[in-house]
Amino acid sequence: MATIRVATDGDLDAVAAIYAREVREGTATFDLTPPPRGKWEGLLASSHPGDHFLVAADDDGTVLGFAYSSEFRPKGAYDGTREVTIYLDPAASGRGLGRTLYDDLLARMAAGGVRTALACISLPNDASEGLHRACGFERQGVLREVGRKFDRWIDVVWWQRILAD
Ligand SMILES: CC(C)(COP(=O)(O)OP(=O)(O)OC[C@H]1O[C@@H](n2cnc3c(N)ncnc32)[C@H](O)[C@@H]1OP(=O)(O)O)[C@@H](O)C(=O)NCCC(=O)NCCS
Repeated sequence: MATIRVATDGDLDAVAAIYAREVREGTATFDLTPPPRGKWEGLLASSHPGDHFLVAADDDGTVLGFAYSSEFRPKGAYDGTREVTIYLDPAASGRGLGRTLYDDLLARMAAGGVRTALACISLPNDASEGLHRACGFERQGVLREVGRKFDRWIDVVWWQRILAD
């Protein structure tokens, strides 16, 4: 049984390792090289009431995945909009953990006054689109061939969920 909790500095190496695998082997992220530890430290340090950084850990404390909300664009009028991101260890996928992490993250965002959550998904990604659909997001629009990785052009689609009236 996994526990969902707020991330700490001690989780960041495990978080970075999960993400680095997708950087090297997948197209869910458009990063081409793993980011420095400072990226994760910066997310953890955010004091914005809509920003949260959660991990899912198993009984012995092993980090199975993480999800966070962060700034969408650095302009004041976007303050009530946050972008959400989620990555699981592949061995932990497909058994409801993404849904559990996101339900917790979205509840914290709503409590923090966030108006709308956005997610940018590279295509194809049936698991991520399924997760966002299951969590009440709406599919808003495709941007064609905006990424290039592994020698091919990749589309992205934006999904949105309004969290408050
Ligand atoms: C995307 C990801 C977070 C999903 O997490 P998960 O734990 O596998 O998803 P869950 O088991 O919680 O499933 C959530 C929902 O998505 C649906 N879903 C999961 N995989 C699916 C698939 N391959 N096709 C269609 N729907 C799928 C489930 O049916 C479930 O819906 P339900 O609650 O109505 O039954 C996980 O697969 C992952 O980390 N992938 C690699 C990184 C990634 O793509 N991150 C997203 C970047 S945008």
